[in-house]
Amino acid sequence: MEFSISFNILFFFLLPTVLINAAAQEQEFSYSDALFKSLLYFEAQRSGHLPYNQRVSWRHHSGLTDGLQQGVDLVGGYYDAGDHVKFGLPMAFTVTMLAWSVIEYGDAITAAGEVNHALEAIKWGTDYFVKAHTQPNVLWAEVGDGDTDHYCWQRPEDMTTSRRAYKIDENNPGSDLAGETAAALAASSIVFRKSNPHYSHLLLHHAQQLFEFGDKYRGRYDSSIGAVKSYYASVSGYKDELLWAALWLHRATGGGHYLDYAVNKAHCFGGTGWAISEFSWDVKYAGVQIIAAQNLLRRELQPNQKHILEQYRSKAEHYVCSCLAKTMAAIWKPEHPGGLLYIRQWNNMQYVSSAAFLLTVFSDYLKSMGTNLHCPNGTVTPEEVLSFAKSQADYILGSNPMNISYLVGFGTKYPKRVHHRGASMVSYKENKGFIGCTQGYDKWYGRKDENPNVVVGAVVGGPDCQDNFGDERGNYMQTEACTYNTAPLVGVFAKLHSLSGGSIQEVVFPSYGSSDNY
Ligand SMILES: *[C@@H]1O[C@H](CO)[C@@H](O)[C@H](O)[C@H]1NC(C)=O
Ligand SMILES: *[C@@H]1O[C@H](CO)[C@@H](O)[C@H](O)[C@H]1NC(C)=O
Repeated sequence: MEFSISFNILFFFLLPTVLINAAAQEQEFSYSDALFKSLLYFEAQRSGHLPYNQRVSWRHHSGLTDGLQQGVDLVGGYYDAGDHVKFGLPMAFTVTMLAWSVIEYGDAITAAGEVNHALEAIKWGTDYFVKAHTQPNVLWAEVGDGDTDHYCWQRPEDMTTSRRAYKIDENNPGSDLAGETAAALAASSIVFRKSNPHYSHLLLHHAQQLFEFGDKYRGRYDSSIGAVKSYYASVSGYKDELLWAALWLHRATGGGHYLDYAVNKAHCFGGTGWAISEFSWDVKYAGVQIIAAQNLLRRELQPNQKHILEQYRSKAEHYVCSCLAKTMAAIWKPEHPGGLLYIRQWNNMQYVSSAAFLLTVFSDYLKSMGTNLHCPNGTVTPEEVLSFAKSQADYILGSNPMNISYLVGFGTKYPKRVHHRGASMVSYKENKGFIGCTQGYDKWYGRKDENPNVVVGAVVGGPDCQDNFGDERGNYMQTEACTYNTAPLVGVFAKLHSLSGGSIQEVVFPSYGSSDNY
């Protein structure tokens, strides 16, 4: 869970290229281990009826009556973070990023022996979206609500809070939610095209309907559903999601009308207007701009299309340059020695992981184009862009002033008091005795002890602007983890693994507390 924020724009840069390499500290990590753990995390976040091959064994079935009150089956999907609301918008963004990771780096994920886990992580989300899309113009947006959920500290298996479901429809539109869900399903349809063509076709069908619904009935979902306002309000509006969905549908179908949509609406939807320095579950413009630019590489284009896509690319370059400039500015100052991309104090790691992914993709793009990146204050090679992305991934894995891995369960030092209800309380497997709403706060939340369960693969909010991190359960700005923090890293770790030799490596299993379970 997190409160929404306004986004900022960077107007100028300071970018000496010599410092880019300084940001990449030389420390070798096992990226295959990081990849393995990242995918494991999604099993800890599962809602619904868990399958026989569930590996995270401190979790059990939960949310088995979700949707019942409204007469719809909404069992399944993911909890977004350390609480138990199923928020549609960040869940869909998470799945889009997982699918994009597989689309770009599927070979590397396969080489690491993790492709089935990656597909399972995606399918746990897409199965839910298919269920939630009950009619062409109806999409269930959320189960539970932040206010009542946050009143309790309970294991998901014991949940007693409201599981009321909320939907968007023709009279209560939500183009942002419909657009992001369409993007997730379109991207996932590409992922499943070979291994499960029937399923791929089903996902595409839902994606197309959702895009039409979102485009025809325009509106922000937080205007239709009051319950999301204080948690995942769509501050950037819905235009970025509609462009994003159109570009993903174009990629999935090759349909020229989807590309035309992104070209014709580039200006009025802000696609070629917004110059932005962050990419998140809310603000998609940088991702839109990079996917649009990728078409310059792949497609036969008419001159006007080419012209608009080049404008998209120019804004994508702005994003990449501003990411580089931000951390460069940080390492100039002695009080910011870590070189971490820093956007804001609450869950800053989400911006770091999404930037690491976009820059990795953009580095590959530059390489394919055979060009360098020309930033206002210096030229950057594709290798330098990748090196910066690696420096951010390495910071997450432990190359930082605290010497701590912000990927939980990785290495020997990592956050032990993650703000996560299930992880912070005795496992349901060990003790099935009911733990009530406030009982959890009294007995478990306030403890100084480490969590009894390690939520392996979670990426917590991370340190402040001076690289300080407080490993306390109540410090939710820093110790809460979200599914969209980890999802983009799946692609980054896969790419870095392929560079480090790409073979199947020994996975390191430290023992997590007294139990031999994950
Ligand atoms: C980049 O900016 C710095 C700081 O303003 C300046 O000293 C340097 O000369 C600039 N470099 C280039 C290549 O413009
Ligand atoms: C991190 O590791 C470095 C190098 O081993 C050491 O100098 C530094 O004191 C460590 N910092 C912390 C906070 O443990």
